[in-house]
Amino acid sequence: MSLKEKLNIITIDGPACSGKGTLARMLANKLNYFHFDSGLLYRAVGYIFFQTIHQPHSKETLEKELEFTTLNYNEKKLSLTWRDKLLNDDLLRSEHVSRWASLVAQEEFVRAALLPIQRDIAHCVKDIVADGRDMGTIVFPQAAYKFYLTASLEIRAQRRFLSEQENDLTATFEKTLHQLQERDLRDTQRLFAPLRKPENAIEIDTSLFTIQQSLDLVLKQIEKA
Ligand code: CDP
Repeated sequence: MSLKEKLNIITIDGPACSGKGTLARMLANKLNYFHFDSGLLYRAVGYIFFQTIHQPHSKETLEKELEFTTLNYNEKKLSLTWRDKLLNDDLLRSEHVSRWASLVAQEEFVRAALLPIQRDIAHCVKDIVADGRDMGTIVFPQAAYKFYLTASLEIRAQRRFLSEQENDLTATFEKTLHQLQERDLRDTQRLFAPLRKPENAIEIDTSLFTIQQSLDLVLKQIEKA
């Protein structure tokens, strides 16, 4: 790789509600890097498969649908358009798309199709903070800095429950906790690219930290290195 092609990659992996997404966004803003939320790609595939529920879902059908998908790089973050429809947060962050995303993320053909796309994104933007489940282990093993965020199940469920409560009157803490447990299990037990702490990653337990404290810690580690 020539010097011109040098990529500056920081990865942040961790389970749902560990704070990785918010931290990655804030870190990217601070460093003026691109924020790549890899979960968005899995959510998009989940959404597309849900919309095409009557077709068999295979490598071929996914490849075909990906041809109708455009990546947009505006405002230093990724957004996606599928068949001329902007896949916004309202579409991608609903509970049923979250569930579909978690299910499609277990499929080897989905992960294989998304791998080169993710690496292309880094080549396009050069300076990138990437968050997800396998950023430091599989997608960007060469990353300069790797972080692994954790928090106790109860604290993560509390965080999600607080945001769910605003839109869903039927939300209960127990239901949220149970859904998170299910998602953790799928993330860590799946055969392909399971959630793992990457080798050489710095682990941060955010249970008792504010997001600002987590950001300060990450910045300190980067300065130190
Ligand atoms: O908000 P949450 O952390 O639950 O989800 P997300 O980061 O938006 O990811 C959506 C789904 O994609 C999750 O169920 C993850 O299991 C999956 N995913 C993955 O398998 N690998 C990634 N690099 C990112 C997300």
